[in-house]
Amino acid sequence: MLWVGRLIVLFQLVTAVLGWGKEGHYAVCKIAEDYLSEDALAAVKKLLPESAGGDLAAVCSWADEIRFHYHWSSALHFADTPDFKCNYGYCRDCHDSSGHKDRCVTGAILNYTAQLTSTNQDFVLELKSNLTEALMFLSHFIGDVHQPLHVGFLGDLGGNSIIVRWYRRKTNLHHNLLEPQAAHAVQQLLPYEVKGDLSAYCVWPDQVRHWYKYRWTSSLHFIDTPDKACTFDYSRDCVKDMCVAGAIQNFTSQLLHYREGSTDRRYNLTEALMFLSHFMGDIHQPMHVGFTSDEGGNTIELRWFRHKSNLHHVWDREIILTALKDYYENDMDLLQQAIEGNFTDGIWYDDVSSWKDCDNLLSCPTKYAAESISIACKWAYKGVNEGATLADEYFDSRMPIVMKRIAQGGVRLAMFLNQIFGDADEGLASPT
Ligand SMILES: *[C@@H]1O[C@H](CO)[C@@H](O)[C@H](O)[C@H]1NC(C)=O
Ligand SMILES: *[C@@H]1O[C@H](CO)[C@@H](O)[C@H](O)[C@H]1NC(C)=O
Ligand SMILES: *[C@@H]1O[C@H](CO)[C@@H](O)[C@H](O)[C@H]1NC(C)=O
Ligand SMILES: *[C@@H]1O[C@H](CO)[C@@H](O)[C@H](O)[C@H]1NC(C)=O
Ligand SMILES: *[C@@H]1O[C@H](CO)[C@@H](O)[C@H](O)[C@H]1NC(C)=O
Repeated sequence: MLWVGRLIVLFQLVTAVLGWGKEGHYAVCKIAEDYLSEDALAAVKKLLPESAGGDLAAVCSWADEIRFHYHWSSALHFADTPDFKCNYGYCRDCHDSSGHKDRCVTGAILNYTAQLTSTNQDFVLELKSNLTEALMFLSHFIGDVHQPLHVGFLGDLGGNSIIVRWYRRKTNLHHNLLEPQAAHAVQQLLPYEVKGDLSAYCVWPDQVRHWYKYRWTSSLHFIDTPDKACTFDYSRDCVKDMCVAGAIQNFTSQLLHYREGSTDRRYNLTEALMFLSHFMGDIHQPMHVGFTSDEGGNTIELRWFRHKSNLHHVWDREIILTALKDYYENDMDLLQQAIEGNFTDGIWYDDVSSWKDCDNLLSCPTKYAAESISIACKWAYKGVNEGATLADEYFDSRMPIVMKRIAQGGVRLAMFLNQIFGDADEGLASPT
C-alpha cells in the first residue's frame, strides 16, 4: 500500500518535471486554432510575435512567463470567490486584493476582447494597448477561466500566487515520495508562496532562460553531440561543464552543502533546487541530447499528422499531447494512473530499482545523457527526414519510450533528492 501511495505521489512530481503545467494552455490554444475561421486565422498570424512561428499555441503561456515583469497583471489570472459559496458574481468578486474593480480573470477577458474588437484607433491608443499582447493575454486568460481552481475560494490561499493555484491540489503530496529529511529540506528551500510544492517551480528555469540575468543558463538545458556519433563523451561534449549533465552535477554539489548546514552564501540553494529538478527532466528527453548540426532536431521541420512541427518539438510535446488526446480523454489524471499501473504490477515493475542504481551522484548524469542520445539515434532520428510527415506508425512505436523516460526522470529526481538531503544510505530505500 505504501508503495502504491508513493507512486501516486511520484507521478505528481514526474509530470511536473517536464513542465506539464503549460500543456493545459497549449492544448486550449491548439484546439482553438483548429476552429478559427480564415479571417480570424489571418488576423491572429499578423498579430503574433515573430518568435511564435505562426503558432498561437506557442505564446499561450507568455502571460505566465511575464507575470514577474508585468507585476500588475498578476491579479488578472484568477478570481477569488467567498469560501464555500460555490457561485460567482462579477460585481462581488471581480477585483484585486486591494479592491480595484475589473481586476480579475473575467474582467481581463472583457478588457482584451474590447481592445481587439475596437475599430476605433483612438480608444486603442488611449489605452496604450499593444494588440499583440492583447491577443496573447486573451488566449491565456480564456484558458485560466476554464481551470476550475482559478476561480476558487478566497480563504484557503494565503500566498496568492497563480502557480500555487494551478498546482494547489498537489501541494505537499510529494512529501510521501521523498524521505522525511529530503521533504523537510525541500520545504525549507522553496519560496514561501508555493507552500512546499516542488512541482510548482519545476518550470521556472524555462521561464527565466531568456532573461538577461539568467542568460548563462540557456546552454544548460541540453547537450550537442557530434552528428551521427550516437555517443556521449563528457569531456568532448560538455565543454567547461556547460551542458545539462554538467548542470546537474553543479547544482547537486551545491545542494550537498545544505546538509553541512554551512553558511556558504555563494550559492542560492533555492535556485539550485529548481534547476536540478528541471534539468533532471531535460536530460531524460532524448532530443535534449541530440546532434549538433540540427540543434537537437529543432531545425528538422516536418509535419506531425496534419500540422507543422519539428522533430525536437515532437519529442518535447507532440507525442504526449497526442497520447492524451487519443487514449486519455485529455485527462492528465488518467495518464498518470496508466503510468502508475505500469509500475505497481506492470511492465516496469522489475526495472524501477535498476533505474535508481547510482553509486556516485556526480557521475550518474553521464549515464542518463548516454541513454538519451542512444534513444535519440535508435528511435527519434531514425527514418526521419526533413519535410517528412510523422503519424500513427511513429506515434505508436515512440509513445512507450516517452512514457518510460518521464517515469525514469521522476524516479531518479526523487533518488537524487533523497540522497542529497537524507542519510546517505537511506536515500536508496527500495520499495516495500
Ligand atoms: C486592460 O489592458 C491594459 C493594457 O494591457 C492594462 O494596462 C490594464 O491593466 C487592463 N485592465 C484589466 C482590468 O485587465
Ligand atoms: C507589443 O508587444 C510585444 C510583446 O511584448 C513586443 O515584442 C512589441 O515590441 C510590442 N509592440 C509595440 C509597438 O510596442
Ligand atoms: C553552476 O552554478 C553557478 C551558479 O550557482 C553558475 O554561475 C555556473 O555557471 C554554473 N555552472 C554550470 C556548469 O552549471
Ligand atoms: C534565491 O533565489 C530565489 C529565486 O530566484 C529568490 O527569490 C531569492 O530571493 C534568492 N535568495 C537570495 C538569498 O538571494
Ligand atoms: C502501460 O503498459 C501497457 C502494456 O504494455 C501499455 O499498453 C500502455 O501503453 C502503458 N501505458 C503507459 C502510460 O506507459
